[in-house]
Amino acid sequence: MKIKGSVILLTGGSSGIGRAAAQLLVAKGAIVYITGRDSEKLQRTAKEIGAEPLLADMTSDEQLANALKHILDSSGRLDVLINNAGIGAFGPVDGLSRSDFREVFEVNVYGAGILGALCAAHFKEREEGHILNIGSSASVKGFKNGSVYSASKFALRALSQCWKDELRPYNVRVTHINPSEVTTAFYQEGRKEREEQPNKLRAEDMAHLILSCLELDDRGFIPEVSLWATNPF
Ligand SMILES: NC(=O)c1ccc[n+]([C@@H]2O[C@H](COP(=O)([O-])OP(=O)(O)OC[C@H]3O[C@@H](n4cnc5c(N)ncnc54)[C@H](OP(=O)(O)O)[C@@H]3O)[C@@H](O)[C@H]2O)c1
Repeated sequence: MKIKGSVILLTGGSSGIGRAAAQLLVAKGAIVYITGRDSEKLQRTAKEIGAEPLLADMTSDEQLANALKHILDSSGRLDVLINNAGIGAFGPVDGLSRSDFREVFEVNVYGAGILGALCAAHFKEREEGHILNIGSSASVKGFKNGSVYSASKFALRALSQCWKDELRPYNVRVTHINPSEVTTAFYQEGRKEREEQPNKLRAEDMAHLILSCLELDDRGFIPEVSLWATNPF
């Protein structure tokens, strides 16, 4: 796909992987709409990287529909959805609570699913489009204390696989991306950005992968890809 001039909706673009990906895509000439919940942080990031801010909580169907409507009214079309916004909850199996499942699934599964549905309708009509769902290494492998998060990312991977089969005949590509650990503010005390570490991925590494998936010639697409750090000791 030609990145220059393309119209991209990237959820959770105000920090971490989303911010780095938005910054790279803007630098390549795309019009990138980023979403988030924290208005001040979203506005600041958008200004810093040259993206368009759209305040939209993944837990609100109405806000998601309004976000897409705003893009179609302003830019006339959408080329790419990047479902990146995500949260975590971690703890032992005997401490599982319905509220933890609800909170995480509302964002990582239901929000991504509803936005995917809205965008899929637009992409089917245009017979063109690309959806990238940001999963996790937890999309393919469970781990100690990971019940809620891993279940949500397995579910997102299921959505990616179903959408791929359904949308491929409409020339719509679906890519599921699994990062391993990335040094962002994800699940950090006070949502503070982490220091870079030589044996962990940076948000910029994920941005590079996202760009590579999008830049591929339109006749092909990558259904699923994982990115690991090389020396995780
Ligand atoms: N970091 C890792 O090690 C890692 C590994 C594998 C996969 N991932 C996945 O990568 C994605 C991005 O994570 P990250 O590491 O970049 O984390 P991050 O720095 O915490 O960024 C998360 C982004 O999602 C937004 N967000 C969270 N809840 C939202 C909601 N309800 N509505 C709208 N926006 C919301 C945040 O905005 P606000 O601040 O406004 O809430 C923020 O922009 C997530 O899906 C995560 O599961 C991360």
